[in-house]
Amino acid sequence: MESIVVRGGLKLSGEVIIDGAKNSALPLIAATLLAENGCSRLDNVPDLRDINTIIRLLEGMGADICRQGGRLEVTTSAVENCQAPYELVKTMRASILVLGPLMARFGKARVSLPGGCAIGARPVNLHIKGLEMMGARISVEHGYIIGQAERLKGADINFDVTTVTGTENLMMAAVLADGVTVLRNAAREPEIVDLAAFLRKMGARIEGDGTHTITITGVEKLLAADYQVMPDRIEAGTFMVAAGISDGDVVIKNAPLAAMGAVVTKLQEIGLLIEPLSPEEEDELHKNDKLLSGVAVRVRRGSAGLRALDVRTMPYPGFPTDMQSQVMVLLALAEGTSVISETIFENRFMHVFELQRMGADIEVEGRTAIVRGVAALSGAPVMASDLRASAGLVLAGLAAEGETVMSRVYHLDRGYAGFEKKLKALGADIRRVEENC
Ligand code: EPU
Repeated sequence: MESIVVRGGLKLSGEVIIDGAKNSALPLIAATLLAENGCSRLDNVPDLRDINTIIRLLEGMGADICRQGGRLEVTTSAVENCQAPYELVKTMRASILVLGPLMARFGKARVSLPGGCAIGARPVNLHIKGLEMMGARISVEHGYIIGQAERLKGADINFDVTTVTGTENLMMAAVLADGVTVLRNAAREPEIVDLAAFLRKMGARIEGDGTHTITITGVEKLLAADYQVMPDRIEAGTFMVAAGISDGDVVIKNAPLAAMGAVVTKLQEIGLLIEPLSPEEEDELHKNDKLLSGVAVRVRRGSAGLRALDVRTMPYPGFPTDMQSQVMVLLALAEGTSVISETIFENRFMHVFELQRMGADIEVEGRTAIVRGVAALSGAPVMASDLRASAGLVLAGLAAEGETVMSRVYHLDRGYAGFEKKLKALGADIRRVEENC
């Protein structure tokens, strides 16, 4: 088991480049299952544990996958084993994303039901209900979702709760269905727009992605296509906080700024300066990496310091739950009292108890955290409970006095490619060590 050791107190400076978005790459890779022939080429695929998991999942089904740096070449014409085994699903809930494509193309699927999760119950009832409305027969047997259908039929589906992967799953199910599917109260996340753009390149007919109503007209078949994964808005936001919390001066390259409105606004209100580079500076900076679709921004702390403020997590375009732990760490050092409300997941405050051990003054009442800013944090041994919590703890370590040792690094590796290497390149005193158990 590995740990991350951070000695806090250094100001970060320099440039960091943002990788492709995990939560876009995962559904895009699942969508390649829809192609009857050809090879889909995905660029800007991040090097993450969750990506390895979905690759293994598809390979187990019979897909041929070749990975070279950030490029993934996926051929799914020989897929015949429509199963997602428990061993893989238990390590990554997003494995459920294969359910829609398998039902659409093969009319059958056997996908392990994801179990409990550290951040909340996270049921998949809405994925199942939607497929049933499209004519699938679904049962749960021995821990597996068993789906069967001749050909899915278009349906008018109204989500009770806005769900990101639920919207993605049903969008992928509908592209090959007979007739028109309307998804209402659909999620509007930028990663859904990215998926819709890829599906359209494969031949799908989709309208309204990015709004609450998505209309999909089924087509006979889809073909492989090429696509570049959008940059990761959560990784970009995490590095903005890293720059601010260390009182540094960092240029973040390839940030999907247009998809980061709520995060940028909140961080600015807390006291960070987030300034896009001029077109000339941007050209100079990007001359060696023309492939990038994001922009470059310079992030520093303003002269007024960090100020308390209230944050409420919401579906996009609201403030993302995936940035909640990171912003909490910043607010833990801000002047005044902040209130953070977590409306998406019922148990996403596990990092609070670790932050308290570092001297943070945070109180949790149900789904609300009251954060009273303190002058300093002190390094301590801490344990990561989930992916974003682990990022928050490393950020806290950057600002804390002394040494922070974070165990259970595997959580971090699910969603941040070379996190400590990128921070080290910005001047952080951080390293990965093998734990002595
Ligand atoms: N929900 C239901 N029934 C369902 C589906 C969802 O009740 O059938 C509830 C959930 O329990 C939750 C709410 O709806 O309370 C929203 O969950 P959602 O389905 O939107 O979450 P998700 O699709 O499982 C994705 C991201 C998460 C991110 C959430 C919210 C991927 C692969 N995962 O999860 O990312 O936190 O949306 O934005 O896209 C992460 O990257 O660290 C991460 C957890």
